[in-house]
Amino acid sequence: MHRIIIDTDPGVDDAQAIAYALAHPDISVEGLTTVFGNASVDITTRNALQLLDVFGAGEIPVAQGADHPLQIPRFASPDFVHGKDAMGDIGLAPPTSLVDPRSAAQFIVDIANQLQGELTLVAIGPLTNIAAALRLDAGLPAKVRQLVIMGGTVVEPGNVTPVAEANFIGDPHAAEQVLAQDWPATVIGLDVTHQTLLYDQDLEKISAHCGDAGDLLRKSSRFYFDFYRGDKNLEKHEQSCAPMHDASALVYLTKPEAFTFVTGAACVIEDGPAMGQLVLDRKGSPYVMPHWEGRPKISAAMQVQAARVHDDFVDTLLRGFAA
Ligand code: RIB
Ligand code: CA
Repeated sequence: MHRIIIDTDPGVDDAQAIAYALAHPDISVEGLTTVFGNASVDITTRNALQLLDVFGAGEIPVAQGADHPLQIPRFASPDFVHGKDAMGDIGLAPPTSLVDPRSAAQFIVDIANQLQGELTLVAIGPLTNIAAALRLDAGLPAKVRQLVIMGGTVVEPGNVTPVAEANFIGDPHAAEQVLAQDWPATVIGLDVTHQTLLYDQDLEKISAHCGDAGDLLRKSSRFYFDFYRGDKNLEKHEQSCAPMHDASALVYLTKPEAFTFVTGAACVIEDGPAMGQLVLDRKGSPYVMPHWEGRPKISAAMQVQAARVHDDFVDTLLRGFAA
């Protein structure tokens, strides 16, 4: 059983990831923590509460986190990708539950201590809350089972700049601080999420068989799919489709064998034209200059059996939300 906190900025693809986690019998969601990213944190928190209502999981706590990056101003929200409300502008009903009184960072630290080594942190937004949790408890990396991050890219071009992925450039200083710590960290970045696609016909099927949850996922995805229709890498697909960025990080928990990794020390560029770039030492041998000596290693997913990830995602939703 994977006992997880999802640190999230919902977000159309965050909603898909949360739905998968709730539907999977081997995953227990201990809480959601929210962060700015796809919208301000007020909006992403409201979305998290609304999603849990519609997914029938209103008892799961939601703790609100950062509304801005550690050191740089917040970039404009990508409303051209996720809509103004970050959920495809479909007008969700007001939430029925209240937010947890603790900050996201405090919530993460509390649950990590409570679960004594069993907690998996899955971060699918900018890493500001994880960096804030590290400030509260520097011993956090030793207290979690693993940290799984949707973010970054090693070889694949970025989706915000030629080298930067949205979650890492959203708070590059936080990403650098998190990757500088020695914890079992796995990065599921664009190298694999640009392969793991979800198609319109999947959402039709999910909508037909998964009640209100399926309806929400299909309707909210329309805006997102429209954005990706303009992506030249996806032109070859006849059907409308979009990357399962965030859901891929959740599927990794239950199907790690579908991914191939490179392990090495990593850093994130904090400023300049390469801001947000994930740099991974793929060679691993000693170098002439000493700067990278002693940096902890992470695992970065470089290849994926995309059909397995896709099929598992769709099957899990169909089983877990069967109406
Ligand atoms: O680059 C993809 C990531 O940024 C995902 O977490 C998605 O929600 C987006 O905003
Ligand atoms: Ca996200």
